[in-house]
Amino acid sequence: MLTMSKTTLLDRLQSKHALISVVGLGYVGLPLSLTYAEKGFRVLGIDIDPNKVKAINSGISYIQHINAERIAKANLEKSFCATTDFSRASEADALILCVPTPLNQYREPDLSFIRGTMASLLPFLRQGQILSLESTTYPGTTEEELRPMIEDRGFVIGQDFFLIYSPEREDPGNAHFNTSTIPKVLGGSTSACTHVGIALYEQVINQVVPVSSTRAAEMTKLLENIHRAVNIGLMNELKPLAERMGIDLYEVIRAAATKPFGFVPYYPGPGLGGHCIPIDPFYLTWKAREYGMHTRFIELAGEINTAMPAYVVQQTADALNRCRKALNGSRLLVLGIAYKKNVDDMRESPAVEVMELLAAKGAAVQYSDPFFDVFPPMREHSFDLHSLPLSAEVLAGFDAVVLTTDHDAFDYGLIEQHAPLLIDTRGRFSPGPKVVKA
Ligand SMILES: NC(=O)c1ccc[n+]([C@@H]2O[C@H](COP(=O)([O-])OP(=O)(O)OC[C@H]3O[C@@H](n4cnc5c(N)ncnc54)[C@H](O)[C@@H]3O)[C@@H](O)[C@H]2O)c1
Repeated sequence: MLTMSKTTLLDRLQSKHALISVVGLGYVGLPLSLTYAEKGFRVLGIDIDPNKVKAINSGISYIQHINAERIAKANLEKSFCATTDFSRASEADALILCVPTPLNQYREPDLSFIRGTMASLLPFLRQGQILSLESTTYPGTTEEELRPMIEDRGFVIGQDFFLIYSPEREDPGNAHFNTSTIPKVLGGSTSACTHVGIALYEQVINQVVPVSSTRAAEMTKLLENIHRAVNIGLMNELKPLAERMGIDLYEVIRAAATKPFGFVPYYPGPGLGGHCIPIDPFYLTWKAREYGMHTRFIELAGEINTAMPAYVVQQTADALNRCRKALNGSRLLVLGIAYKKNVDDMRESPAVEVMELLAAKGAAVQYSDPFFDVFPPMREHSFDLHSLPLSAEVLAGFDAVVLTTDHDAFDYGLIEQHAPLLIDTRGRFSPGPKVVKA
């Protein structure tokens, strides 16, 4: 039997009369808000950061790959605005939470952003709303953290309030997929919640994939990222071995990838970066302890991946040594400080650790990155540096050039021609006398 709350909410979602409120307007929340607005919904963004709210309401983008015109157009059409006022959550039919889920200093899940957001929203929840958590987290978060908070307000989940978990799969900078074309997994607290959840997302996402529970949906997201972390770890383990055996691992991966089934190519690099792959697997490691289990593959991949910046530094020192130079006092140019190519995102970037390790050993480090004119402020790292423009003279003025992030905007021909020594962590350069794989 359908409750009034459910039929009304379904009607409002299916007719696109529902007001969608996205809470947390970062790399995930901003594109999601724009997608809803562009598909004909009214969207109210909520964030604690007044600068982001101001930018949105002025039609300005603060994320490089998101075009400001999209925001300005949505403003003009009055389909998207933002606020820091959580009391306005009561106006919304759907609340979608996209707040950060980092690790704390002990590398354990830090749910403080989710709890903080919920504490701010709770007084303004009302009957007939759906709340969807999109932040990556361990299985059980929705049922163990969110559900009791909502029930304490007197709501009956599945009857007068609907709760789901639906992991975000945003891939910033990916030219082939956008929010609408990436299939969306979701699991509800009850089957009624799943039903409403499907109605929430199928208006804007081409393929919605329901699973049996919020736990299954939470685990799906972790599986995807653990799969990546473990396979990248395997490639990072094979990299020094292939190097020692005189084999080009990139050539091998490319050849293996011609197999039309049973092989997925992953590539080694200077270490893991971004908000997801270095962090998310440890959400499961932490939760597994509650069940008396150890996630050994995750721990091993973590160990190998976190050792990569030190490997890059060792390869750099060895290469300089062969030229009768010491790391101490050498002039080094690091190319690309973003965590992956073609994005303006520095979170957990291994390039920064490489820079720090090189500087700690006495190297004079500079960088070039078309996405960062100035080395951006970071919580745990700081360099008082500006990006150097690449030219023949600039490149020739260094003892070695370390490629950490292979942005498409770099002129690789110029780099190869003028860098005296090239430390290549991305397999971008063909083997040659001055190219050192790291
Ligand atoms: N960035 C990605 O590519 C990506 C991909 C998939 C999943 N995720 C997951 O999505 C979630 C969000 O990631 P993100 O990259 O968008 O983070 P982000 O840091 O870019 O954005 C988070 C936003 O939440 C806001 N915020 C923080 N506390 C808040 C509060 N109490 N109330 C309201 N707003 C608050 C911040 O001001 C910020 O604008 C994380 O769990 C992440 O793991 C991210």
